[in-house]
Amino acid sequence: MSEGPAARRLRYLQAMGIPLWVPRERGASTPATAVSEPSADGSGGDEGLGWDELQAQVAACTRCGLERTRTQAVFGVGDRRARWMFVGEAPGADEDRRGEPFVGRAGRLLDAMLRAIDLERGQVYIANILKCRPPHNRDPLPEEVACCEPYLQRQVALAAPALIVALGRIAAHNLLKTQTSLGGLRGRVHRYGPQGIPVVVTYHPAYLLRSPGEKRKVWEDLCHARRVVAQADDDAAH
Ligand code: URA
Repeated sequence: MSEGPAARRLRYLQAMGIPLWVPRERGASTPATAVSEPSADGSGGDEGLGWDELQAQVAACTRCGLERTRTQAVFGVGDRRARWMFVGEAPGADEDRRGEPFVGRAGRLLDAMLRAIDLERGQVYIANILKCRPPHNRDPLPEEVACCEPYLQRQVALAAPALIVALGRIAAHNLLKTQTSLGGLRGRVHRYGPQGIPVVVTYHPAYLLRSPGEKRKVWEDLCHARRVVAQADDDAAH
């Protein structure tokens, strides 16, 4: 007999390391949704470019100097018309080598997070704040973020997702132009860019690898995110 959706979800929660005795209904209820003001202006020098032109521009980019140490730029991957967009920090060593975001250990956990909400990698769009790996995986510098920002702004404008999930502090702070702690940003709906695209914040999968006890919070965030997308779908249907 084939596995039903409930059994499948349990299996993926198990794969994420979330104890199965957690009552699912409790996990699904998150704090009331608050809406914050748009904070990124969404404009950049790359407006007007289509996906392929933009990708070519990123591949040849020398704006910030990281091209001197990268193997290749890591543009983004997935469905370019996805309802869900996930934004991480910057490529690591594995991503720099393979040219695709989230393909290392953190990426495998991201895949498990996606499966937990019945999504596959190919059904979402995944990108990073920075397209090139900072040496020794150091945090992105503000000037590097500023150079790279128009690329992400254009990716968001082209994909026009129903929701952006910011993975971790660096993604959240740079998307939302805030210094508020991750804990303070979770459980709310923020807005990005001129289209006011909803943004939900959660922990970075690399952090979860170090702090597996936080996986339950990520499950709550993903349930929250799923409700935001369902609401957007509902609004679009009426
Ligand atoms: N961490 C990120 O933030 N992005 C990647 O692509 C890989 C690891």
